Amino acid sequence: MNPIQSYIATHKTRFLDELITLLKIPSISADPNYSNAVLTVASALKDDLERAGCTSVNLYTTEGYPIIYGEKIISSELPTVLVYGHYDVQPPDPVALWDSPPFEPIIKTTDKHPEGAIFARGACDDKGQLFMHVKALELMVANNTLPCNVKFMIEGEEEIGSKNLSTFIEEHKEMLKNDVILISDTGMIANNIPSITTGLRGLSYVEVEVTGPNRDLHSGLYGGAVANPINILTKMIASLHDTDQRITIPGFYDNVEILSKEERAEMAKAPFNLDAYKDALNIEAVYGEKGYTTNERNAIRPTLDVNGIWGGYIGEGAKTVIPSKAYAKISMRLVPNQDWKTITQQFTTHFNNIAPKGVTVKVTPHHGGQGYVTPVDSLGYIAASKAYATTFGKTPIPQRSGGSIPIVALFEEVLKSKTILMGFGLDSDAIHSPNEHFGVWNFLKGIETIPYFYEYFTELSKK
Ligand code: BES
Ligand code: MN
Ligand code: MN
Repeated sequence: MNPIQSYIATHKTRFLDELITLLKIPSISADPNYSNAVLTVASALKDDLERAGCTSVNLYTTEGYPIIYGEKIISSELPTVLVYGHYDVQPPDPVALWDSPPFEPIIKTTDKHPEGAIFARGACDDKGQLFMHVKALELMVANNTLPCNVKFMIEGEEEIGSKNLSTFIEEHKEMLKNDVILISDTGMIANNIPSITTGLRGLSYVEVEVTGPNRDLHSGLYGGAVANPINILTKMIASLHDTDQRITIPGFYDNVEILSKEERAEMAKAPFNLDAYKDALNIEAVYGEKGYTTNERNAIRPTLDVNGIWGGYIGEGAKTVIPSKAYAKISMRLVPNQDWKTITQQFTTHFNNIAPKGVTVKVTPHHGGQGYVTPVDSLGYIAASKAYATTFGKTPIPQRSGGSIPIVALFEEVLKSKTILMGFGLDSDAIHSPNEHFGVWNFLKGIETIPYFYEYFTELSKK
């Protein structure tokens, strides 16, 4: 065992206990009822960063939840790595579908995690992955092997659109100055197939409201004679895809980045088993845009999906009613070069245009962000690739992800640095779903791999 491995072996029980302490606190940013818990996690993490060796750790107040900033600067001659993560979590709903309570972490084995996985909301997204960085710093400081400067910026509003982070980075450019940004908030292909995320999709998230008559009506007395907002809304939504599953909003594909044949062939080399994919989801067939593979559909192509839809009577039994209003929440995942504000505008115009007379439509944009692609020839990517090669014994595969971390594009714009996405979760870890978990092996492997990133990045920067 090398010094990294022996430090982890000696302290792993404590590492897990400390993570479990954080996971017990329900830091749900979307629900104001949990604001105290969100604040509690922020101050607990501040203490954790101090204990790990950061100096001057501060909670910066914002209009929303605080941003934690801490650093360990050893020399202005050395490169600086900025670590970003988020301490807020998604709501655990539907709680009834969890096999164990979402905020009472337990370790159980699974097929994918024979060495055990921690089950709790936030285990993988993102408390567990963020905590790997805190423990990696502790390890490097304790072993006296920290080769460069480190800065941590941790926010509590990622899951609700990072509303206050852009102002913060604009106002603290100098403090946040760095040579590379490092984030563990994505996944990898499998424990024996390491991969590094090279792309994130952008996002436009909107809510729509369709209003018909000025009150709920008797569906017998008025049925057939006035527009039913739910009938209309579902028809409008259905029309947003054509029979090839392409999105029908005018201009939607205008700026979509087109990958070359070679790039698509390169992507197709990543191991993927369609049958296992279908089995894991219990579906008979996949579904999506004509002409693209599953991996292309969920990474390099844009989407439009209804995330929630409601209106009318949904209580027990039957109530005969034509509702006055119907609603839906819609997300559009975007690819590089699609501008989320333009797309939101195009959606709004189109949705108003396709509304028939007899209803009115209101579109309310929620949040959004641009997509991101990181080059594989940057120092950061090369350092990360070498780090995985060292600890996994295999060169990682570059892979574009379908998820979004909108702030990453902003980092590049404002701080002018590349982001490296070293994620150690698996798609099957059920982030945002019931029974979210994070492999103990993955957690420890992350802690082992991160110090090599620092080492290689510092070495490569000297050349
Ligand atoms: N960590 C995820 C994003 C992610 C997960 C990217 C896995 C790639 C692989 C992040 O916390 C998240 O959930 N982002 C949201 C967007 C945000 C604006 C609410 C998402 O992708 O839905
Ligand atoms: Mn996340
Ligand atoms: Mn998330």
